[in-house]
Amino acid sequence: MANSLGFPRHGDKKNSEFFEEYLIRLLEERDRVGLTDLIHEIDAIMITVDPGSAIEYVAELALMTPYHYLVTLESESHWTHVLRIDMNSPDFLVREVKDPSIRGIFRSLNEVYPIGARKPNSRYMGEILRVTDLHSVVELQQEREFRFFSQDDLRRLEMPGNLAVGKPSPYTHNIVAYMERPLDEIRVYALGMSSIRGDVQEAYLAAKELQKKIQVDDLLLPVDHLATRVYSQNREVAILEYLSLSSYYYWGSYDIKDQNSSTNVTKSAHYANELFSPAKVFTANNTPYFVNHLEKLPSPTETFVRNYGPRLHHVAVAVKDGEHAGMENIEYVVKSISEQGKDFLLDVIGSKEEGLKQIFSSASEHSSLIIEYVQRFGDFDGFFAKDNVAELTRAAGVEEELLELQAEATDSRDD
Ligand SMILES: [Fe+2]
Repeated sequence: MANSLGFPRHGDKKNSEFFEEYLIRLLEERDRVGLTDLIHEIDAIMITVDPGSAIEYVAELALMTPYHYLVTLESESHWTHVLRIDMNSPDFLVREVKDPSIRGIFRSLNEVYPIGARKPNSRYMGEILRVTDLHSVVELQQEREFRFFSQDDLRRLEMPGNLAVGKPSPYTHNIVAYMERPLDEIRVYALGMSSIRGDVQEAYLAAKELQKKIQVDDLLLPVDHLATRVYSQNREVAILEYLSLSSYYYWGSYDIKDQNSSTNVTKSAHYANELFSPAKVFTANNTPYFVNHLEKLPSPTETFVRNYGPRLHHVAVAVKDGEHAGMENIEYVVKSISEQGKDFLLDVIGSKEEGLKQIFSSASEHSSLIIEYVQRFGDFDGFFAKDNVAELTRAAGVEEELLELQAEATDSRDD
């Protein structure tokens, strides 16, 4: 039987008694009823984008990550582009709405937030987790009061019919879906008509050719972690909820005092290597926005959530350890990709001595997601350096303030 409580704890952030009590009770019960053994790795990552944005986004991912365009699934009102590296890391499903007037639940999640509403169909949706017995997993999760979309709902939403899809989390607004698949079988998504679209293929091949030409193709690895931002009061429940939905364990939390925020890490109980199943990170402010005028502390994380809604903030892509053209790989990758017109929010930060270097790209104009590059040196297996996280959080906050001002300026012109 799995032991989800057998991992060492990291970090310095103190949790509530509620959290510590239910962490043990939830994971003990999850192991005991067999859910930990039935639920495996993250099999796919689902993103939705606005009409007309998908081809450029696929090209952006093809340049900035190791992903390849595989096929497009066409349904009545969506195209779903499948991107893959191989069967040892999750797929990306980039779902494009055909008609801007289409309304749906994922759009609604964006619409009440001032910046989120500006690209109403662009957001991270959630993950598909591989399971070995879909029926048992859904039955067990329903007993634990998790709610699922019905088969009718899935048809209306135009999501793969072989998935069980949970309702969006009240804390993260992300979904978790389950797909049954034995490890030696290929991933299949039961949705619409499948074809390789000429226009997507052309943009993908051009991006891959460029990636090869600038010699970053051999330096990029799969996704290392996925970082979600939530309201300050939802930090602990967001973590416990995700642990209940997955087979992840609680790795630990660090207080990032400089930015009045914390970084909270969960990892797969089955696979130590994040590249096989990315770590899930939750970031939350330490204090809610309405005490800012008393505390006078920076609050970039809470501000992000108020502007975009709770949602995924960045996808971190690992960079191979080593050097290229006389530079550390991450420095080379960032230099080469920024020469192609992609912006980064700051310089590469961290050091070999601290164990890792990191950087944030600007938010994608297509998905609103930031790409983080992270290079770990030698045998460093820590997750991050506190100073790095503070610096990254600050830089993303500055960029976002800018977007907020731009949005306000456009709004006042509209009036
Ligand atoms: Fe990160």
